[in-house]
Amino acid sequence: MKIFVTRPISAQAKDLLKEKCDIELWDHDSPVSKDALLKGVVGKDGLYCLLTDRINKEVLDAAGPNLKVVSTMSVGYDHIELQQLKERNIILGNTPGVLTDANAELNVGLLLATSRRFVEGYRHVKNGTWGAWSPLWMCGPGLTGSTVGIIGYGRIGQAVGQRLKPFGVGRFLYCGHNPKPEAETLPAEFVSQDELLQQSDFVLVCCSLTPETRGMINREAFQKMKKTAIIINTSRGGVMNQDDLVEALQSGTIGAAGLDVTTPEPLPVEHPLLKMNNCVVLPHIGSATIETRSTMMMMAAQNLLAGLEGKPMPAQVRL
Ligand code: DGY
Repeated sequence: MKIFVTRPISAQAKDLLKEKCDIELWDHDSPVSKDALLKGVVGKDGLYCLLTDRINKEVLDAAGPNLKVVSTMSVGYDHIELQQLKERNIILGNTPGVLTDANAELNVGLLLATSRRFVEGYRHVKNGTWGAWSPLWMCGPGLTGSTVGIIGYGRIGQAVGQRLKPFGVGRFLYCGHNPKPEAETLPAEFVSQDELLQQSDFVLVCCSLTPETRGMINREAFQKMKKTAIIINTSRGGVMNQDDLVEALQSGTIGAAGLDVTTPEPLPVEHPLLKMNNCVVLPHIGSATIETRSTMMMMAAQNLLAGLEGKPMPAQVRL
């Protein structure tokens, strides 16, 4: 079986694939170029890709009729044109579950960094603008007694809630496209998205990017939020209208934002969001623990092999 892998992966994942496949690999630590991708997929049975690769009609046409399986080393698959896979009977694997803990940890860290102004504070320390201790200097809202709203109450949303509970949060609200979990572990209240936006002190965007959620957090949504509200987005940049976010932060419509995802990625250094004290931007590192990334690489390899051998994949996306 012939496969194309779009980035260097762990020796463990590569060895596993090597047992059964001829591997062609983009051996650079940067996204595969479009030309190399179009060339690399030709005649392959399987494609191991990353969230930085756009898998569209052009790529699938270039691959040709042998291509049976696409396996992405990510839980998100908004970079893949699902309809195009479906039309060709190509199956898709992803990596849900294994990055939930890492992502939930990052949500908590980013929320605290944003609300307690870590980055702004550090800048003062570094730039010599740290003056004498002062009663109201560098204050931000606390979590104790607050209302936390979680948009998209799937695995990650629930895991974030669990981790925030010991901080003494007063109320958890949730809304979104995920069905109400069967075994609810948090006393979270299901509300409409408008109610969640209006009542939350902290809004956490944990839903995936779909045609329905694209641009969902826009000017109208920001206007519904409290002026002091803090919004955290670790899902995909496309869920937010970023120009509207800039305006909301500049005009004081909302208090602050913490983003692990932006549009585009990387965000150009001259972007207005990077000049604001009330915005913390991280470089899409939600799943970036050593253990998690190794597990994701292995799981994507296992998915690919299983799919190619006609066995059930550890995680197959329903198309
Ligand atoms: C994913 O897997 O979709 C995350 O965004 C990166 O780990």
